[in-house]
Amino acid sequence: MLIGVFDSGIGGLTVLRAIREAWPGHSTLYLGDTARVPYGSKSAATVVRYARQNTRFLLDQGVDLLVVACNTASAYAMDSLAGLPAPVVGVIEPGARAAAAGAAASHIGVIGTAATIRSGAYERALARLRPGVRISVRACPLFVPLVEEGWEATPIARAIAAEYLADWLPGAPDRPDTLVLGCTHYPVLRPMLAELLGPEVRLIDAARATAAAVAPWLGGAAGEAVPRHRLFVTDGAEGFARAGCRLLGQENVELEVVDMTPLAAD
Ligand code: DGL
Repeated sequence: MLIGVFDSGIGGLTVLRAIREAWPGHSTLYLGDTARVPYGSKSAATVVRYARQNTRFLLDQGVDLLVVACNTASAYAMDSLAGLPAPVVGVIEPGARAAAAGAAASHIGVIGTAATIRSGAYERALARLRPGVRISVRACPLFVPLVEEGWEATPIARAIAAEYLADWLPGAPDRPDTLVLGCTHYPVLRPMLAELLGPEVRLIDAARATAAAVAPWLGGAAGEAVPRHRLFVTDGAEGFARAGCRLLGQENVELEVVDMTPLAAD
């Protein structure tokens, strides 16, 4: 099967990596919309338009299954992607499911971009999956540029996280027991966040949960002897290649640049 994955940029490579690790026999095609990143500060209408164009591009390439790896796009565009010829999996439902499934979860925190948090999408999913659970949300917009700079293990990253999450740190009276990393970039910050928040807070990686959530469509499909992996970007191939190697754990990556302008009328 050919699994299509899109994100606003490099962050979705955390989801792609999780998918490749979980399903090594299947081919993947990734689109990073680097010309229009970030989505996290844009309006709902714009994010939906971009998501529809990215989807059209991936369907034109013949993908059998589509993964919306971007939390912001998943927060706003899943309804508008219904009824397509390929199944569509977003990151919010799997992330919320993994958080809600924790036996001890009684207070779930969610961090994400400003747009994801503003959408209320995680709160709706969590309230449906675990009625009565307490939910606290927080936008952490500086986390994305920190990861893009490769600064995830620096004192600056730690200081910024401590500022955003000040009332959830050890010793605070009302901490979440579970924290959803509700943005593509945040799994990269996981070691620092785990250390900062301590072992009592269970961190939920929506990337890994999403890789597991494609099982119903892939479970029965035979893998390929030599799966093929292609990476498309809409701009800035050089910076993406560097970050791509880091996030995918590869020595080098080959990129193809695609122009979305012909799809812009959608
Ligand atoms: N991919 C986005 C997300 O998961 C983060 C980067 C952006 O703002 O575009 O929400």
